Amino acid sequence: MSKNFYITTPIYYPSGKPHMGHAYSSIVADIFARFKRLQNYNVLFLTGTDEHGQKIQKEAKKNNKDPKIFCDEISETFRSLTKILNLSNDDFIRTTEKRHHQSVIEIWNRLVDSGDIYLDKYSGWYSVSDEAFYDEDEVEDNSGKKISISSGSPVEWVEEESYFFKLSAWTVKLLEFYKKNPNFILPTSRKNEVVKFVEKGLKDLSISRTFFTWGIPVPKNKKHLIYFWLDALTNYISALNFPEVENKKYKDFWPADIHIIGKDILRFHAVFWPAFLLAAKLPLPKRVFGHGWILSDDKKMSKSLGNILDPIEIIEKYGIDQLRYYLVKEVSLGNDGSISLDNLKNCINNDLANNYGNLCQRVFSFIKKNCNNRIPFSSKLNDSDKKLLNDLKNSLPNLISLMNTQELNEYIKTVVGFSFDANKYFNDSEPWAVKKNDPERMNAILFTIVEQIKNISILLNPIITNATNKVLSMINITTENISIDKIKDNNILNNKKEIGNIEILFTKIEDDN
Ligand code: ME8
Ligand code: MG
Repeated sequence: MSKNFYITTPIYYPSGKPHMGHAYSSIVADIFARFKRLQNYNVLFLTGTDEHGQKIQKEAKKNNKDPKIFCDEISETFRSLTKILNLSNDDFIRTTEKRHHQSVIEIWNRLVDSGDIYLDKYSGWYSVSDEAFYDEDEVEDNSGKKISISSGSPVEWVEEESYFFKLSAWTVKLLEFYKKNPNFILPTSRKNEVVKFVEKGLKDLSISRTFFTWGIPVPKNKKHLIYFWLDALTNYISALNFPEVENKKYKDFWPADIHIIGKDILRFHAVFWPAFLLAAKLPLPKRVFGHGWILSDDKKMSKSLGNILDPIEIIEKYGIDQLRYYLVKEVSLGNDGSISLDNLKNCINNDLANNYGNLCQRVFSFIKKNCNNRIPFSSKLNDSDKKLLNDLKNSLPNLISLMNTQELNEYIKTVVGFSFDANKYFNDSEPWAVKKNDPERMNAILFTIVEQIKNISILLNPIITNATNKVLSMINITTENISIDKIKDNNILNNKKEIGNIEILFTKIEDDN
């Protein structure tokens, strides 16, 4: 079985500052990447920016900037966001890079060679801000102006010479592929939408543009630019040094294990991208996961609606682990979810400060005070001790399987449940009451609870990485190459490790904050 795992985020348009929706996709992907590393996979995690197209060209012009310079600046803010979000991405790709350029040209040439590209005339409804074409039944009248029904953005009638991709020819092959690979598109509700769309029959796709200049020219016909979605999607293999299909990176990591995207770009990833790859005679990715939208005031958070929560402001005020935890605990991954500062504060106080944070601090302070600062070891665990530890250990196969199907909320709920149980166990076992008369029992309780804190910390490590790293180092466990095997390893606390400096993990947020 291959122990390689390739996961990607969408590459974002650097047309404005990154917002919470971008942060969300990236954090979700990061959590899956980190979890796979915990399972000792060799992970490649890719993110980046999508820099070609009319939208970027227009935005650069508005700012009186050359498009490349404009992209350099904004792409940099996305790159620095990867640090602020504590992403563990291994690469950051920009579609203006040379490695990407040659990869797109190769894809184009392959589609020409396979006979999937022809020149014709295009006319239809086009939205600049969505960079997408719409059918007549996908647009509606909005006080005299045509808009896209799905996104609400204005569309204009476009007519021009264009290269076409024979998408229609792939309808049956795609339907067969979805049938053979029932988990290719997740969640299942999304898959059903896609299948319905494809079953209607696919139309050929216009894949070149002549009405702007910021993009990769079509080989041998420079009047045309390659459609930025064909350009953008190819990033996933450009980062593997495509067209060199014999190189190690490509061989190890293609096909990708999962593309994490928002549902807004599902069609591009679940229909167009596989069709391009089939035509180019390349293997298809194993999964496309289309998550829901982060809403604010019950509307999709988006630049054009101006209802954006700035992730950087929130992180500065409340902390990165807090934001990461909140987004993936409170928003159901497959569905849309509203977020609010009030909920964020409640979540920080209840789950992080009062539950996990408080547990660690109470236990460690107790050991510091009562055990000469050494974590006691005990092999005399009673049934309630064993039950606490075994409940978690026995649930590992289930937890792994939840993560394998991206049931992230269920995963977190289960792990946080263990943390509540551990708090209750500590209260009920009252180590302070047996300290004098039965120190051996006290040691067993403390050993059990530290063991459990270690296990919970490892399971939460992909989500609240900074805090759990702190906790693990407080109990003297090295966090480099931390792995799930350390949960199965009972001996790790055998050598009476010292408790390190006890740091504050999560500060409670007061009402007026
Ligand atoms: O579409 N809620 O870039 P983009 C959740 N360049 N996620 C959201 C969101 C929201 N309110 N808003 C944005 C593009 N996202 C293309 C992608 S990929 C080859 C090319 C996230 O900057 C979500 O992942 O518009 C969505 O799919 C992506 O950002 C769109 O980012
Ligand atoms: Mg968008």
